[in-house]
Amino acid sequence: MIDIANAPSPMVFDPLGNGNRPLSQLQKRVLQLKAEKNAIILAHNYQVAEIQEVADYVGDSLGLSYKAAETDADVICFCGVHFMAETAKIVNPNKRVILPDLKAGCSLSDSCPADKLAAYKAQNPDTYVVAYINCSAEVKALSDVICTSGNAVKIVERIPADKEILFVPDQNLGQWVAEQTGRKMKLWPGSCYAHVLFTRQIIERVRMQYPNAPIVAHPECVESVREMADEVCSTEKMVGFCRNHDAEAFIIVTETGMIHRLQREVPEKTFIAGPTETCACNDCRFMKMNTLEKLHNCLETLKPVIEIPEETRSKAFLPLERMLEWSK
Ligand code: 13P
Ligand code: SF4
Repeated sequence: MIDIANAPSPMVFDPLGNGNRPLSQLQKRVLQLKAEKNAIILAHNYQVAEIQEVADYVGDSLGLSYKAAETDADVICFCGVHFMAETAKIVNPNKRVILPDLKAGCSLSDSCPADKLAAYKAQNPDTYVVAYINCSAEVKALSDVICTSGNAVKIVERIPADKEILFVPDQNLGQWVAEQTGRKMKLWPGSCYAHVLFTRQIIERVRMQYPNAPIVAHPECVESVREMADEVCSTEKMVGFCRNHDAEAFIIVTETGMIHRLQREVPEKTFIAGPTETCACNDCRFMKMNTLEKLHNCLETLKPVIEIPEETRSKAFLPLERMLEWSK
């Protein structure tokens, strides 16, 4: 039984937050190394503030995939989780792709092992596999098309009506896409450990405290939370939604790093981090494995490096290329 009365108070990030503080010595050193090595720093919206502040580009999985495909830098330093850096390597086989902490994985990606998907496909050879980008290169190699939370609806709408679709690995995103498109899909039973920590009960409590603040939730949240949201969208779309909406404060139901991005982009507004039953915020333990120190060391040594066997990479490239094409 959840003790709502004793649940933590939500964290409110106001316009006087740390949006534009001066760079530290270590941040300046990172920028120097980046120039010396002709590297580009790509950072996901969930990265710590110190990393977001030195990145060339901060965005969602979709924006990061496009940036990785476009860059002419020699080195891609990817500040995100492993599958994101792998995606950058899939589109850039000849570039050096580095990730500050190789152990920065993803529970969602882990919930769909490639051998299990291969076994499913062997029994259901006509299935059309749509893979959310939060999966391994091996799973991508077994898929027909990739999607992100930012383009999943658009991608699924492109698939011919006679195809039977299996959506992997996130059942929550898959369910939301099925609702939006009216398309029946089989859903792989995976989920993000961090997003499922948001519950209807706890978000209702925050809404009572801030009745005028629209709720903005990521589609990886469970259905009962998504139903309460004024907007369900990818992390990048959250920026546009909050900027263009008349409200002054927003309840942001996703990983807490997003608050920093919102504060920088929409400094005049207030953001309330969606709490869980045990914490006032919700950090993804994998995303937070990357630190400014590890980023510095990674640029200095150009390690750890992302490697993918060429056979897997070239197979994984096709559904990814299809996504980049379909989503233009
Ligand atoms: P976005 O594609 O919205 O950035 O989400 C990625 C992710 O890992 C969410 O948990
Ligand atoms: Fe994976 Fe969830 Fe972390 Fe996103 S927030 S990287 S889906 S574990």
